[in-house]
Amino acid sequence: MQTADIRARWLDFFAERGHTVVPSASLVSDDPTLLFTVAGMVPFVPYLTGLVPAPYPRATSVQKCIRTLDIEEVGKTPRHGTFFQMNGNFSFGDYFKEGAIGYAWELLTTSEADGGYGFEERDLWVTVYEEDDVSFDLWRRIAGLPEHRIQRLGKDENYWSTGQPGPAGPDSEIFFDRGPAYGADGGPATGDDRYVEFWNLVFMQYLRGEGSGYDFPILGDLPKQNIDTGMGLERVAFLKQGVENIYEIDQIRPVLDRAAALSGRRYGADPEDDVRMRVVADHIRSGLMLMSDGVTPSNEGRGYILRRLLRRSVRSMRLLGVDAPTFTELFAASKDAMKAAYPEVESDYDRIRNLATAEEETFLRTLASGTTILDLAVGKTQRSGSKQLAGDTAFLLHDTFGFPIDLTLEMAEEAGLSVDRIAFDALMLEQRTMAKADAKAKKTLLADLSVYSAFRALGETVFTGYDHFDTDTRILGLIVDGVSVTKAVAGEIAEVILAETSLYAEAGGQEADAGSIVGTGFDLEVLDVQRPVKGLVSHRVQVRSGEVGVGDAATSVVDRDYRRGATQAHSATHLIHAALREVLGPDAHQAGSDNRAGYLRLDFNWNKPLSLATRTEIEGIANDAVRQNLEVSTRIMPLDDARALGAMALFGEKYGDEVRVVEIGGPWSLELCAGTHVARSSEIGLINVISEASVGSSNRRIESLVGREGFRDLAVERAIVSELTSTLKTPRDQVSARISELLASLKAAEKRISEFEDAALTERVPALLAEATRIGAVTAVISNVGTLSSSDDLRLLVTSVRGRLGTDPAVVALAADVAGKPAVIVATNEAARALGSRAGMLAKSAAGILGGGGGGKDDLAQGGGSNVRAIATALEAISAGLPR
Ligand code: ALA
Repeated sequence: MQTADIRARWLDFFAERGHTVVPSASLVSDDPTLLFTVAGMVPFVPYLTGLVPAPYPRATSVQKCIRTLDIEEVGKTPRHGTFFQMNGNFSFGDYFKEGAIGYAWELLTTSEADGGYGFEERDLWVTVYEEDDVSFDLWRRIAGLPEHRIQRLGKDENYWSTGQPGPAGPDSEIFFDRGPAYGADGGPATGDDRYVEFWNLVFMQYLRGEGSGYDFPILGDLPKQNIDTGMGLERVAFLKQGVENIYEIDQIRPVLDRAAALSGRRYGADPEDDVRMRVVADHIRSGLMLMSDGVTPSNEGRGYILRRLLRRSVRSMRLLGVDAPTFTELFAASKDAMKAAYPEVESDYDRIRNLATAEEETFLRTLASGTTILDLAVGKTQRSGSKQLAGDTAFLLHDTFGFPIDLTLEMAEEAGLSVDRIAFDALMLEQRTMAKADAKAKKTLLADLSVYSAFRALGETVFTGYDHFDTDTRILGLIVDGVSVTKAVAGEIAEVILAETSLYAEAGGQEADAGSIVGTGFDLEVLDVQRPVKGLVSHRVQVRSGEVGVGDAATSVVDRDYRRGATQAHSATHLIHAALREVLGPDAHQAGSDNRAGYLRLDFNWNKPLSLATRTEIEGIANDAVRQNLEVSTRIMPLDDARALGAMALFGEKYGDEVRVVEIGGPWSLELCAGTHVARSSEIGLINVISEASVGSSNRRIESLVGREGFRDLAVERAIVSELTSTLKTPRDQVSARISELLASLKAAEKRISEFEDAALTERVPALLAEATRIGAVTAVISNVGTLSSSDDLRLLVTSVRGRLGTDPAVVALAADVAGKPAVIVATNEAARALGSRAGMLAKSAAGILGGGGGGKDDLAQGGGSNVRAIATALEAISAGLPR
């Protein structure tokens, strides 16, 4: 009986019994808690929980499913498939146990001629949940099964849910007995090679909560009692087709045969090869169906599962002795076997094949570069006389190149080496622990670094940049978003690990080189170069064009202009440091520095400003050293020797045992330094100190422009000076005196202007006095004086008027428009205050009307606001506020 026939009989049987036939949903589940559709019931979950009213009381489907939990079992048992089809019949509050058991028995035992599956009654066994007496009795009554063929098992066997909170219930499973050739008597309770479970009837009536395995709480009853059953289509097919396992059924076997043909090995000749062929047959079909449902290979989620299946297929073909690409053939075979049931695999086949072959190509390339890494490590291990490959190499291969450990074991074995499994397992455990922590804290520092430590295990990155601008090397690794990848494409930002590099990684106060990494078909712009872990250089790049892959040949190219500038700056820092100590003494310790092309910053311990003369002296000494064309020598020596020479180890920096000593013109400048330096001091050109300032209480900072940048800065200053000499028509050496002179005469002129303005104001006083009126017992001058340039002028006017009003009670309130804003100033004399007039209160009442605030003393107060048009009203409020 062909798989398609089993499927058709199923749907017909349940359709005839009032079930709505529902087409298979996508493998990509829209339930966010499930990566894939793992059972026939997944699309019906909302009906089972009662969240959505079921549109039909009963339904049936043949659902595509993916389960990868048991991926390691694939090929080894007769019945584990990562892709499979589940025939299901469902009742949403309609029939329950009796109906489900009745239908199952009828379909299984009805003869093939009458549309059933034609199983012999004697071959069938069932299990029920240990507490489920009802089902036990139903099996006795409906099927007439003898009691010993109805076995009661615990929750771990006969209770079903998706593994997530949701619908759950006890179940009853149906088994086929393959006979004594496959194992001992005793029924399904004894084991499952002989007794093959192929249909599960779930009595969905509870809602389960969070929990793992079978340890979860039952939260309550579902609104209705439902039926969810699942019959493994592949399992029935293998039982009905008289073959040994699911991999030999009509939908899968052609791929297995193709794998055998491609490898030139015979299926059935060697148990290990058989497993490999079955793995290929299963995984290729799963890949086909996943890609048909829109999944594409990637490094996470569904895409990662797909990638894993495809890579396991490549790997299995390799173990079958085939190194060449095989996916074109294998996928074609799977497509032909599946297209009757799923026509879309044919209509969409070009896209699927392209995805598959691209993934195969990438992985084969990965295998090739991983093999290079492994060969390097094997060579190194052999040279060291060891017989064991380091665990971290195996881990790198696994983590970065997707090498399964057995691949590494096998390849190491070919070279006569074993692998340090203990170290490997420890790293795997560490990674898993980290991955867990990572899932919580997303991006921990530790997890980031683990990517690098795997590369670091291959050895230190050799720095060739002291002697070379360009170095031919190899791409050892690519990291994108903290994850090792095998390639990066145009536009992407990635980190590149090289075997050797001429590009300087930021260290010792010298910033990273600018430059590029180029190779056939790619051009990478270097954005930064760092040592994320000691000894390993990582280049942060943007792919300018093309595509770069691990294993590619590449050249590191230093930007000459940038490097020259940074080198000049770094050597200049050493000279300024030496000059500082010469002038200020040995207490003037360097406390930090920053060197990049054309610029240096040097912080040093010192707690008072340098006088201009001292600063100039230091600058002069440093530039003298430039002019003396001193030789710069660099040597590597043990730290103690360097100390004995008097080399200065800079505070806070760490050195290995072997250190690099940079000496300029003898012991005068002797420092431990990993930076790049000029060969002779005159190459620095020029040191132009542009500032000296404090940083914190005990440090000072000198900034200088160096070389061409130093000259450019001086050229700018020269341009300013020449503009001044021509504008002022004064020779350069008199510019400064001329400016002082100009400033003095400007000040004198301003003073005279202000005197004139005061005089002009005073002239307005008589007119204001003429406006004086009597309000109650007070003589008041209340007036808007128009526009004034400052409130000082207004105050001067107010106090002048008050001074001329004598000793009888008098109040002056003048308002003006000062720069577009209203201002009011109120003054009272002693007699007015005695009558209760308070300048502060009057000013405040006016300011309220002007839209602002005000106040002051009783004798003189000021108010302001924003609304110039309210001045008249504000002044009226002042007169209204005078005592009557
Ligand atoms: N949902 C049940 C299963 O997957 C039928 O076994």
